[in-house]
Amino acid sequence: LTLEEKAGQMVQGELGYITPDDVKAFNVGSVFCGGGQSPSTGNSAADWLAMYNEFQQAALGSSSGLPILFGVDAVHGHGNVESATLFPHNSGLGAANDPELMYAIGQATAKEIFATGLDWNFSPCVAVAQDIRWGRYFESFGESAAIQESLVKRYIEGLQQFNISATAKHFVADGATTWNKRNHRASGTLYNPDAYKMDQGDARISQKELHEIHLVGYREAIAADVDAVMISHSSINGVKLHGHELIQSLLRSELGFQGIVVSDYESIHQLPGDFREQVIRAVNAGIDMLMEPRRWKYAINAIVEGVNTGAIPEERVDDAVSRILTVKFKRGIVEQPIKTPDLALFNAEENRRIAREAVRKSVVLLKNEGNVLPLPKDSNVLLLGPGSDNVGMQAGGWTLTWQGTIHKEVKGTSIRQGLESVAVENGGNVYTSRDDAAKADVVVVVIGEIPYAEGVGDNGRLTLDSATAHKNNLQALADAKSTGLPTIVILISGRPLLVTNYIKDWDAFIAAFLPGSEGGAGIADLLYGDYDFTGKLPMTWPKTAKQFSETIYKRNYKERDYLYPFGYGLQLTD
Ligand code: BGC
Repeated sequence: LTLEEKAGQMVQGELGYITPDDVKAFNVGSVFCGGGQSPSTGNSAADWLAMYNEFQQAALGSSSGLPILFGVDAVHGHGNVESATLFPHNSGLGAANDPELMYAIGQATAKEIFATGLDWNFSPCVAVAQDIRWGRYFESFGESAAIQESLVKRYIEGLQQFNISATAKHFVADGATTWNKRNHRASGTLYNPDAYKMDQGDARISQKELHEIHLVGYREAIAADVDAVMISHSSINGVKLHGHELIQSLLRSELGFQGIVVSDYESIHQLPGDFREQVIRAVNAGIDMLMEPRRWKYAINAIVEGVNTGAIPEERVDDAVSRILTVKFKRGIVEQPIKTPDLALFNAEENRRIAREAVRKSVVLLKNEGNVLPLPKDSNVLLLGPGSDNVGMQAGGWTLTWQGTIHKEVKGTSIRQGLESVAVENGGNVYTSRDDAAKADVVVVVIGEIPYAEGVGDNGRLTLDSATAHKNNLQALADAKSTGLPTIVILISGRPLLVTNYIKDWDAFIAAFLPGSEGGAGIADLLYGDYDFTGKLPMTWPKTAKQFSETIYKRNYKERDYLYPFGYGLQLTD
């Protein structure tokens, strides 16, 4: 390969800012779709496959003839694509804590990605998130590294078994960034630029904390032969990770990672210097592929120039390219770049069955007084609340758009549909208007958070009426209370919210996390007692806002100090 061809392999452009002709002309190594990106022709699996093959065909016509790797964030299933099977987000999967379930989810996700042609998944996020105020908390399996030990490896094995490359992200300690007080004050507003102070912030941690908590997921991922590691937007003890010596000393040398080190979205722009200097710093720090959605062409030039001026050793470029090509060969992409998958793999019944099982296992029963649950199947249920009929809310962020969508166009089974399908066959009823309270035996209220993702999801208050909470939560609770009926509250959220002042009014309380497209069916399985609850909290549920900042390292853990301790979860038989 020429130097120009090698430099081309080291960049990744984003759909919308790169064309098949660009890939051909510049020997571009990778293309990706960020959150919410989809083919210009439409958003079906077939549209994605056609787009993939068009890019791949162009790459084969480049001077190197090398295929691209096409990446995407299939972080809870292939959620950018219409009608994908949407699995629970990671905070729920941490509650399930079931390695074989993770393996099945990895396989099912891989099949749906393969059905659209793509090669590379920017997942799993192995952040061991310590502070529930972080807007990416739901992407984490929870506060304990022990859960990473049980889940990360099997998920990656499931994905890569079908030749879909996995990515452990975000290296390292992205789950340990500290909350910024300025941010706290302004947290009532969404799209608050200050919110980025925690997301992409600074992790002030000891070596011990780094090794015992935040490295565990990477060890597991490397043991599973993970193809890629993505560097974090954040800093560690004040130094941005994209230029950090830890990439060489820790990730490559100590942990022995052999795969592709990829930068996060334009994150090298946070390094000192102008763009050319940033590219040089990042490549010399050990980044092999630059996720430069818009500036990929400038990045190629900067690499070439860097080598020509001696600022980047050519061996570093050779090392990077050999890691990239190793993955392309290992995953069979060089051998078979054009894909002809069976489109029936996409949203297959078997995948939805796995997702429904995942819902059943991830939902946590926190209170069940007077055995209000399980519900007899012929119950007359009054179903209220903003989450009761909204699959977009069940699915959360990284669904069709980057920040997710509350609109109903997300395909799946809502809680209303899930309950109705049982009630209708068994002589029960599901009423959805407060006016029908007199006909009901019980009220089920579904409250929670609206969808969000990076930055936007940071929330310093976490009350039922704070920035990420649905604006109708309190009204729905008041309506339920006014009926005087036994009350079951289901919370759809990426993380715990403060419910201390309300819970005395509730007979049962269920944390559903972000259960995804099969949420309604899986929750109905539990409410009507066809299956028992097995989910256990993968995080501590705070009683007061003061407890938000207590990481598991700083905590003086007395179970009674919290609303619910780590690992808590009831069964119907309790
Ligand atoms: C996120 C990554 C994601 C990337 C590509 C970034 O902003 O931090 O997790 O993989 O975008 O969409």
